[in-house]
Amino acid sequence: TTPGPLGPDHGYGPDIDHVLLSEAQIRDKIAEVAEQVAVDYAGKEVLLVGVLKGAVLFMSDFARALQLPTQMEFMAVSSYGSATSSSGVVRILKDLDRDITGKHVLVLEDIIDSGLTLSWLLKNLGGRSPASLEVCALLRKPDAVKVEVPVKYIGFDIPNEFVVGYGLDYAERYRDLPYIATLKPSVYT
Ligand code: XMP
Ligand code: MG
Repeated sequence: TTPGPLGPDHGYGPDIDHVLLSEAQIRDKIAEVAEQVAVDYAGKEVLLVGVLKGAVLFMSDFARALQLPTQMEFMAVSSYGSATSSSGVVRILKDLDRDITGKHVLVLEDIIDSGLTLSWLLKNLGGRSPASLEVCALLRKPDAVKVEVPVKYIGFDIPNEFVVGYGLDYAERYRDLPYIATLKPSVYT
């Protein structure tokens, strides 16, 4: 397919309803947040913990934008619930490869919806004696205010719509889209 005005869509174009955040908007915001993180962590080494799979693209771009020495770890969790909402009951699918005792841990999340997954994750990681533990989320939905989760860095507050792209999936598809978009209702039926 020919790239549309938004850039490459990997052939998903017909499924896209509207683009919420363009590639350029995402890039600019990551640069802005990374600059703040670099100030806050000056002189420290940061251990980025990416939550699989949604945060993979974010991790990749954020680590390059962040002008600090960083290490990367990944964790995969699954929250029991329906395809589009979580229950707060979380299971570790892949744990960190190493100990985080004494490390400055910055958790990178793609999106905070109810906040249930993250609040569980913070409790779990907090029990491993890191030197510090903060969260950087690319996206946050309005429902997130219902659960008290301390999130230090936020990219964008977005409306309560299901979004895909830039790591976010619907049924494992669309993660490779370079922008964040909503899908046409016909995709879900
Ligand atoms: P909670 O509700 O625990 O859930 O904060 C966060 C997780 O739910 C998924 N999620 C989404 N995934 N588009 C997605 O592709 C969305 O709009 C969306 N909202 C929530 C996601 O896995 C996130 O980590
Ligand atoms: Mg998902």
